[in-house]
Amino acid sequence: MTTITVFKGDGIGPEITDAVLTILDAAHSDMTYEIFNVGAAEYEKNGALIPEEAFTSFEKNKVLLKSPITTPIGKGFRSLNVTLRNKYDLYANIRPAKANAAVSTPFPNVDIVTFRENTEDLYVGIEKQIDENTVHAIKIITRKASERIIRDAFEYALSHDRHKVTCVHKANILKLSDGMFLSIFKKIAALYPQIESDDKIVDNVCMQLVMHPDSFDVMVMPNLYGDIVSDLTSGLIGGLGLLPSSNLGTGYAMFEAVHGSAPDIAGKHIANPTALLWSSCMLLEYIGKNNIASRIRRAVDEVLSEKRYITPDLGGNASTEQYRDAVISHLK
Ligand code: NAI
Ligand code: MG
Repeated sequence: MTTITVFKGDGIGPEITDAVLTILDAAHSDMTYEIFNVGAAEYEKNGALIPEEAFTSFEKNKVLLKSPITTPIGKGFRSLNVTLRNKYDLYANIRPAKANAAVSTPFPNVDIVTFRENTEDLYVGIEKQIDENTVHAIKIITRKASERIIRDAFEYALSHDRHKVTCVHKANILKLSDGMFLSIFKKIAALYPQIESDDKIVDNVCMQLVMHPDSFDVMVMPNLYGDIVSDLTSGLIGGLGLLPSSNLGTGYAMFEAVHGSAPDIAGKHIANPTALLWSSCMLLEYIGKNNIASRIRRAVDEVLSEKRYITPDLGGNASTEQYRDAVISHLK
């Protein structure tokens, strides 16, 4: 029996978390959950976005399924995601964007996995006012952080039968920083002769992604480009409710949907739990329960292709619970 930590979050967080945990139980995933309320509602009640016991639980279990939270507006609030990424060194943000039968887009074959470095680049947030009319923002690229994210991208390609890894950069302008990222990429690529590799400048990548998304497979890049390019790939598959992600470090792993807490539909029982469910499949694969993950993925594919019980964001009229039950009835 594996114990994992679960953060329920705000808005649609509790509804989609309940649906996902019910499906995980129905699939006999053999896990127990330590569940915590985190986020804006928790802050109102007890004065902390994340209660101390929730941190302690994650530190013990090392694996976290996190549902979205509402970022409180006002001074002094650090993004909870940035807090978690830094505190637990969750350096690899992995976002698989795969076209799905339930959502028709001009690009039915998109299947792209973005590896975004999660800890440095411009996101270290070091800005300096030089004088009234000049601000400097520091971009930090280190060999250590570059090596580990690039290596992870190749290891992933190897273990997931992927054929190519593309390095995304701007080394023509940022010769030292992106230049080092690119030269590390080339060195590591040479260690994986069975995997094709290439590199492309980030602006060209944006154009190519929109015109020929099928030509991309695994992509690896520094933080800022990863933020922007992964949103572009989400647009290609056309559905916010369908994008999972993992945030991995050496000791800890956090899995979450890419979307937010959707306050506009909270409590209406129409939220699509698929992104969180697929995030939980990535979690299952991370802890070695690949068979259970495949069973759930297959059931979801069947329900989505049948289009009988799909949620309103995908054009259907099923409730979160009807969709949940449909997935459960397709589990084999
Ligand atoms: P959002 O992703 O919550 O919602 C955007 C639109 O997509 C809304 O119309 C919403 O109803 C719809 N949507 C999102 N997820 C859906 C789902 N699973 N099923 C059906 N429809 C869905 O983005 P928004 O409105 O910009 O942010 C709301 C709050 O969420 C903010 O406080 C924001 O800071 C927070 N947020 C939290 C994140 C996290 O915790 N990882 C990530 C992004 C936003
Ligand atoms: Mg972003």
